Amino acid sequence: MTGAVGTEQDLVWVPKAAEIAREAGARLREFLAQGVETEYKGDVDLVTVADRTVEKLIRERLAEAFPEHGVYGEEGTRDRMEGEFRWYVDPLDGTTNFAHGFPQFCTSLGLEQRAAGLAPDRDGTLVAAVIYDPLRDELFTAERGRGARLNGKPMHVSRIPELAEALLATGFPSRKRHASPNVHFYNEFTLRSHGVRRAGSAALDLAYVACGRLEAFWEFNLNPWDTAAGILLVEEAGGRVTDFAGSHFRLDSREILASNGLIQTELVDMFQNMFAGRGLTPIPTPQEFAERRAAKGR
Ligand code: IPD
Ligand code: CA
Ligand code: CA
Repeated sequence: MTGAVGTEQDLVWVPKAAEIAREAGARLREFLAQGVETEYKGDVDLVTVADRTVEKLIRERLAEAFPEHGVYGEEGTRDRMEGEFRWYVDPLDGTTNFAHGFPQFCTSLGLEQRAAGLAPDRDGTLVAAVIYDPLRDELFTAERGRGARLNGKPMHVSRIPELAEALLATGFPSRKRHASPNVHFYNEFTLRSHGVRRAGSAALDLAYVACGRLEAFWEFNLNPWDTAAGILLVEEAGGRVTDFAGSHFRLDSREILASNGLIQTELVDMFQNMFAGRGLTPIPTPQEFAERRAAKGR
């Protein structure tokens, strides 16, 4: 956390953004109940009418509430990109889950403040975050310097100090899954921790690190609409967010490593070792597989 926790009344952007996220969530619940048709954006990258309708709703509500603010949405919104403030919007994070009726998805709204004259490829400062899970009615919020909250109550990252005792999460891109190296990291971290969850909503994974349900989350190839809100939640809840080398995370870094802070160095060391090919757990040979299966009498 970057400052003292104020009261909820001190918050500048969160109250309105939370109202918008709740309205978005109510629409998602309706779409889920009625069932929606799914289309393909890429080979296995799904999109539904819910993604598009809810982005349009959020875009309109943000324009009414904050007419000067920009909006950068996953489904194509690029409004007022030259402004001082910019909302990164994922109307439905967890579309594949949503399309299958798997109950893990959310709406994510992250606000960036950009100084006048900042080059387009430089990051401003993340100043507000709202992630809403409409099925559990859980609202995760933060403003910079004012702490992070879950349903209005202060939330903090966990105090677990080592990877061996940690519960982790990751994700895999819908597009080009076959080209992702992440399955190797999934394997190694599974063997060295309490386990790795792959629940299908990066924004909720980050929110869960922030509230202490997970010790860490990593993923390759995310976009700012997936991460902007969750990063601020984790930082304001006392955690750390870097790239896999432990360097400052940028919104276009595309490699994100977020944790309770206590295990960040251990995780970065693991990534560095794995990228260098050190200490990898070998996959058993066919003969070893056969011997192991025979030994168990199967
Ligand atoms: C996806 C989810 C998923 C992650 C993918 C994202 P979407 O977002 O966050 O957990 O693994 O990389 O693309 O497409 O459901 O908004
Ligand atoms: Ca997403
Ligand atoms: Ca989405």
